[in-house]
Amino acid sequence: MREHLYYDIAEWWPVISPPSEYAEEAALYVEMIRAQARRQVREVLELGSGGGNNASHMKHSFAMTLVEPAEGMREISRKLNSECTHLPGDMRHVRLGRTFDAVFVHDAVMYMTTEDDLHAALQTVAAHLAPGGVALVAPDATVETFSGATEHGGAEDEIGRRARYLEWTLPPEPGETTYTVHYVFLLREPDGRMRVAHDVHLEGLFSRATWLSLFDEAGLAATLVPRTIEGEEYDSFVAVRPTT
Ligand SMILES: C[S@@+](CC[C@H](N)C(=O)[O-])C[C@H]1O[C@@H](n2cnc3c(N)ncnc32)[C@H](O)[C@@H]1O
Repeated sequence: MREHLYYDIAEWWPVISPPSEYAEEAALYVEMIRAQARRQVREVLELGSGGGNNASHMKHSFAMTLVEPAEGMREISRKLNSECTHLPGDMRHVRLGRTFDAVFVHDAVMYMTTEDDLHAALQTVAAHLAPGGVALVAPDATVETFSGATEHGGAEDEIGRRARYLEWTLPPEPGETTYTVHYVFLLREPDGRMRVAHDVHLEGLFSRATWLSLFDEAGLAATLVPRTIEGEEYDSFVAVRPTT
């Protein structure tokens, strides 16, 4: 599935979801990585780094390598994070032939819609983790934390573009590992021209037990670590690669 947000309207990403809104959570990810690692963390790989919003904060603590499949999103991130390494790649298959002190996966993991996909992504995480290194995977939701909700947001940029969006999360059908999120974007150019886009994202939803067992199959013993962002509780999974 090609989401309009990451392809046709990717240049609007920083107006829809500004980097400044990620400061609190990025600081938490830096803290979680540092607290768990059994080696000094200098180099961090992020899989599905999107427009590089977390990276724009985390790069002050780590040297970041950013892997993202959508060229438009990489382009946005390159402008924001010129000091980071940007590479194309799908988290299910990419192999960089080297390891990192930490591997981080944020909301991009929600695009793993089957257990096979999630298994492949966690294999990729394990393949890039140095001994003593830490994997931090921070999904938007697990079965246990999921809530169908409607949200809205948007901002304005320095050249006067404005965006507003409505995000409507629908619950999964019984027995399904996916749910859909509908977005309506209103995109206003500085000259007043208005564009409307409807986007449908298919996202994966797995129980905590499934997450932990898929980590196990990837050779990583993970722990469930709750995180709180702007007063909301989320699940995260942290695993350290053994040193022997
Ligand atoms: C919400 S954005 C990520 C934003 C990011 N957290 C940030 O800080 O800017 C989700 C990203 O996941 C990427 N994505 C979707 N499927 C992917 C896959 N199979 N492998 C890697 N990334 C993927 C999309 O292209 C998109 O850029």
